[in-house]
Amino acid sequence: RAPEAVSPTGSPTGAPATARAQSGQYLTTAQGLRLQDTDHSLKAGARGPILLQDHHLREKITHFDHERIPERVVHARGAGAHGVFRSYGTAAKVTRAGFLAADVETPVFVRFSTVLGSRGSADAVRDTRGFSTKFYTDEGTYDLVGNNIPVFFIQDGIKFPDVVHAAKPHPDREIPQAQSAHDTFWDFVSLHTEAQAHTLWNMSDRGIPRSYRTMEGFGVHTFRLVNAAGDTTLVKFHWKPKQDVHSLVWEEAQIINGMDPDFHRRDLADAIEAGAYPEWELGIQTFPDTEDQMFEGIDLLDPTKFVPEELAPVQPIGLMTLNANPTNFFAETEQVAFHPGHLVPGIDVTNDPLLQVRLFSYLDTQISRLGGPNFAQIPINRPHAPVNDMLRDGMHQTAVHGGAAPYRPNSLDGGCPFLAGQDMGAYVDVPEAVAQSIKERSNPASFDDHYSQARLFFRSLSAVEQDHVVQAYTFELGKCFETAVRERQLQALANIDAALCAAVAAGLGMPAPDATEQVPDREPSPAVSQVGDTWPVA
Ligand code: HEM
Repeated sequence: RAPEAVSPTGSPTGAPATARAQSGQYLTTAQGLRLQDTDHSLKAGARGPILLQDHHLREKITHFDHERIPERVVHARGAGAHGVFRSYGTAAKVTRAGFLAADVETPVFVRFSTVLGSRGSADAVRDTRGFSTKFYTDEGTYDLVGNNIPVFFIQDGIKFPDVVHAAKPHPDREIPQAQSAHDTFWDFVSLHTEAQAHTLWNMSDRGIPRSYRTMEGFGVHTFRLVNAAGDTTLVKFHWKPKQDVHSLVWEEAQIINGMDPDFHRRDLADAIEAGAYPEWELGIQTFPDTEDQMFEGIDLLDPTKFVPEELAPVQPIGLMTLNANPTNFFAETEQVAFHPGHLVPGIDVTNDPLLQVRLFSYLDTQISRLGGPNFAQIPINRPHAPVNDMLRDGMHQTAVHGGAAPYRPNSLDGGCPFLAGQDMGAYVDVPEAVAQSIKERSNPASFDDHYSQARLFFRSLSAVEQDHVVQAYTFELGKCFETAVRERQLQALANIDAALCAAVAAGLGMPAPDATEQVPDREPSPAVSQVGDTWPVA
């Protein structure tokens, strides 16, 4: 029998339905044997050596020895919360996803995270933040695994290990986010200049959020929605915090990291406990699903680009409220497994080469992080939709499967035939022509502009915010030992904005180079995204 769909949350408290209080009248072993004494080992006399036959001692110590699981290779430090998502129904025109129909309430679990630090690192560091949401929908689990920055470092996922290795601590000293890692990080982003836009967001106040509650979230990639009629629309997802967007200033962050490294984790849990439930509106930018997948000159498959909201307004489609803290950090926040490939009917992926690699990476890493292929059976990961897969056995299997024929159709067990031509509410991949059939390792020319969006973002900031960016670059590059790395990064800044480059160069006591790439500014455009006459919604 396939595992039953059990709610991981005992809403409204958020306690897992399977939580054990560990407050029974008798202490027992894992086998249910009652114990008299758990404070003294069985010894050969009061002063003698401990006896190997003490099964309780060995079970207790052995279990403790194996308590830790590997931390996530990235996003190791995080904080989670349960909540609900209520859809407005405004997206029903563009997607058949049931949880986005009018007024549907869906339980969610959200995990916020930093990217680079280890599990025990400080919260208020300068870094990108993860913003992952698991929607337990009636049609299966949908995961929106996003960040608080709308663009990413790299365009092709094959570089992901490289950018992470460049930013993680050096192998010799293992000092995170400190001097030893600066040269490799700036070396990477100045050689792989597609990373310049994301880096500028990191150097801005967005890199040090005041609270998880005051962050925006972005799906980053372009996704494809499919409506009941089969029409497709390209979209980008946005979370807009009802609490607004707030950041720390650098000096505050430094003090906070020393005084209270758990600052963001505490802030989230305290707010929820006090009943100040944080809320985010989910919104989408919509773009016609044209053959070239371009919008206003922006390649929608390039994850280092965002689409300015002046060109495509973010249209609200639902409200998320986080209203319960996890009961057990390990069981929920640590063991939760998000995956950009967890989709529901009505939401499909695109050929974005970063997203395509993510579709492989998450399941793969979770098999080793969570000890085998059955982690979907862990309560926090169990879908609320009924599960009837044909998966069998494996490490940590908890289901007792019956039946003789784990394949469909079969003529022995009966049930679940594939009914050709009938709508079973199943997931159907959108048929899409594959544009080119030549096997090659290259990017389209539309990925080549690495600077105009960094400039657009920098120039959208107020004078105070721009000054913070200058100070951040000056501080961080000041930690680089290699002059050649600093010079190359200054060159990238010159290509973004001459005044930014001059200010950082002055701070470093170095000459400011001239721009080598003249990427033209974008012409202001009055265009807004229009998908059909009933969209955008009023
Ligand atoms: C976590 C890989 C790009 C957001 C992870 C994990 C891996 C990974 C291996 C650990 C997962 C786990 O242990 O459960 C990759 C690769 C990428 C990529 C290979 C590029 C090809 C991105 C992008 C975003 C993102 C573009 C944002 C849009 C996240 C988040 C988490 C995560 C939020 C933490 C999930 C959680 O809270 O459990 N990523 N990632 N990643 N990634 Fe990515």
